Amino acid sequence: MKLDPRLQAIAEYVRKGERVADIGTDHGYIPIYLVENAISPKIFATDVNPGPLDNARRIVEAQGMAKSIELKLGNGLGPIIGENVDKVIIAGMGGLLIRDILIEGERFISDVNPRLVLQPMVAQPELRKWLKENSYRVISERIAKDRKKFYEIMLVERGDSSCENLAYDEIGIKMLEEKDPLLMDFVNHKIAKYEKILENIKQNAAESESMNKKTFEIIDRIERLKEVLKAI
Ligand SMILES: C[S@@+](CC[C@H](N)C(=O)[O-])C[C@H]1O[C@@H](n2cnc3c(N)ncnc32)[C@H](O)[C@@H]1O
Repeated sequence: MKLDPRLQAIAEYVRKGERVADIGTDHGYIPIYLVENAISPKIFATDVNPGPLDNARRIVEAQGMAKSIELKLGNGLGPIIGENVDKVIIAGMGGLLIRDILIEGERFISDVNPRLVLQPMVAQPELRKWLKENSYRVISERIAKDRKKFYEIMLVERGDSSCENLAYDEIGIKMLEEKDPLLMDFVNHKIAKYEKILENIKQNAAESESMNKKTFEIIDRIERLKEVLKAI
């Protein structure tokens, strides 16, 4: 199976021999890729909705992988309680939903201590901030790009974080430290987005009184992103 750049970047955080849980597996592509390439001997693929899980089951059975990929229905980390895994993947969901899954699964995470591969589609800064404030450490972070869209993928473990995030938590320091090849492109994309917002605000200058605070914040965001650019 050929994965798209986002799923490929997620799969690359799994090391050979690791037992994996893929929470919210949907199509089941990551588990299938990990078994097909003899990376994982055992995967728990879960989903809260029966429809996606049935789709995954059809593909898994067609590929003859039912022994290696165990499909489980249920919310968050619930279906894997009692199982032993090295890595938990939670990808393709909003950052706040990922946060809630981690909060509800706190007991499992403390007991089993897996590393987590998190790929929030939105609310990435909120998730980054929450992780830092709740005894999770981002040990690696990378960017994937597919058809002009950027995706942020974090490898996380339990532990205090001494790392600051950058630019209102929009940039993970590990992206900079690990010299992610897409970082410059990613930061420029963010700057362009904020400059566009600023332009729109200026065009509605009549509302400028109430817009002032927001305008200053956006200008500050742009400045901080430009600082990141200088450090790349
Ligand atoms: C957009 S898909 C992402 C699929 C795959 N992980 C990916 O990254 O391509 C999100 C999947 O998460 C499932 N999901 C949503 N909330 C969930 C939860 N609380 N627990 C488990 N699965 C959940 C949905 O049913 C859906 O199949």
